[in-house]
Amino acid sequence: MALVTSSLFLALSMILSSEGQDLLDPCLSSHRMQQLMDSESNLLKFLNQTFSDRAKLSGESHYEKLSRSASRFLAVLPENNNDVVDPLRTFLGIKRFLSYYGKFFTHKKDKDVFGAVQRSLEKQKMKYPDKASLGYSIDAILRLMTAYDLDFDGMENSSGVSLSSEDKKNIMQRAKEFGLEAKGSGNGKKFIEKKSRHQVTDTDMTKYNNLCRLSRHNSYTPDNRLSCSYAKGLSGLAVWKQEVLSRDPYIAVFYDVITKREATSIMNTGAKILEGSGVMGKNKTSLLHHRLSASSWLWDNHTDTTLNLSRRVEEITSLRTEFRDHGTLAEPFQIVNYGLGGHYFPHMDYHLQHVIDAQYGVLENSGDRLATFMYYLSDVKEGGATVFPELSVAIFPVKLSAVFWYNFKIDGERDTRTLHGACPVMGGQKWIATKWIRQLSGGLSSTCELSETPPPFFR
Ligand SMILES: *[C@@H]1O[C@H](CO)[C@@H](O)[C@H](O)[C@H]1NC(C)=O
Ligand SMILES: *[C@@H]1O[C@H](CO)[C@@H](O)[C@H](O)[C@H]1NC(C)=O
Ligand SMILES: *[C@@H]1O[C@H](CO)[C@@H](O)[C@H](O)[C@H]1NC(C)=O
Ligand SMILES: *[C@@H]1O[C@H](CO)[C@@H](O)[C@H](O)[C@H]1NC(C)=O
Ligand SMILES: *[C@@H]1O[C@H](CO)[C@@H](O)[C@H](O)[C@H]1NC(C)=O
Repeated sequence: MALVTSSLFLALSMILSSEGQDLLDPCLSSHRMQQLMDSESNLLKFLNQTFSDRAKLSGESHYEKLSRSASRFLAVLPENNNDVVDPLRTFLGIKRFLSYYGKFFTHKKDKDVFGAVQRSLEKQKMKYPDKASLGYSIDAILRLMTAYDLDFDGMENSSGVSLSSEDKKNIMQRAKEFGLEAKGSGNGKKFIEKKSRHQVTDTDMTKYNNLCRLSRHNSYTPDNRLSCSYAKGLSGLAVWKQEVLSRDPYIAVFYDVITKREATSIMNTGAKILEGSGVMGKNKTSLLHHRLSASSWLWDNHTDTTLNLSRRVEEITSLRTEFRDHGTLAEPFQIVNYGLGGHYFPHMDYHLQHVIDAQYGVLENSGDRLATFMYYLSDVKEGGATVFPELSVAIFPVKLSAVFWYNFKIDGERDTRTLHGACPVMGGQKWIATKWIRQLSGGLSSTCELSETPPPFFR
């Protein structure tokens, strides 16, 4: 027993822990979900061994039964690979933890075993999947079906697994609770949102959905590619592959602006401290429907890599990102790992004036979010584009590239056309690192230094 137990804990303890943080539901981060699925066979080996040892010791048939069940589940465990992070496989995985493995722990006598399993998941800062997790995974399926206009057939095709009719019944029940309209029958069943419950107009929501559908596969090429060129950076030493997607407001994608090693380093750093992402002014229940991801904040001084990546933002955008105690020029990097079907409905990056006025500490006097620079740290298998509904711009994430735009007009007005959202992730992992550059940084300023400071590359 000791051997298997220690191999379970060895596998799990490879992920560093830090104290005092809420445990994350695995559905909120596809990275955590991958870890959960990866530890499934270790978990079953541990249970099989523990229960068969107890059966030998006590002679109780209860333990023999449990051990045999664990062994049986182990034998039919789906093959694990890096593609397990997709909605249907995840749903089935959560269901196994909850319905089948959960049954192992219903007896009072086995509380200690459950405790051991819980603790090993806690080491990865994850909670044991519960009913809420199952709910999130069903919500993810529904969000993907509505966003990408897919029926059960389409979902099964994309995942390569089938749902039982009972699973589909459960999904349909949840759709009903959400007030989604069902269309079609059998495997051709689809769900439609009857009434938008979002804060943006129905027109913007329709455009968001259309852009998401267009850019679901990475074969998508934007038709609004205006020009591809080599752009000189601040120092004039380096040149960057720039693709301008909109001139006014200025939106551009830069390719190969971060190395694989840097991307891996920042994802690893972020993964250790992921927490459920919030949206300012929203409570936890409503944010789950507005935004589904896990994130962490890293100041430039966190590692050499964060410092170098922040300097690179300066180099590319010609906007300074220096940290200052009272009035920082830019925010720390926000590292985000999207969850299952993870998305972020259309929103603006800038705040309302009263929010800015109420900011204190390092953000005091730093102004609003002048510009957004977002590194794409991973390739996404399917879905997950960044889309601007009012501009018909869609950007499919390409690993090692970055997108940059101004949230303010040259005259210092907030630019409402920068409304943008993240399409739901259909398969694979989506990791981004965002740096918000504050107005204090200069560039376009709200204090009316008009036209003297046009966006870079137009000078
Ligand atoms: C379960 O444990 C028993 C007893 O140690 C062992 O003989 C058996 O091979 C295990 N089953 C699996 C599938 O690992
Ligand atoms: C699913 O795949 C099957 C076989 O490849 C195909 O016939 C069917 O049209 C696909 N359905 C959808 C909705 O993509
Ligand atoms: C959270 O927001 C929802 C929707 O706006 C609201 O119905 C609910 O009462 C709020 N809950 C709390 C605890 O504030
Ligand atoms: C980074 O800078 C912040 C702000 O000055 C400071 O609070 C923090 O301790 C620094 N962290 C490290 C690792 O130096
Ligand atoms: C950061 O940049 C400096 C200067 O270019 C370089 O010497 C150093 O190796 C970089 N550090 C990392 C961790 O990439």
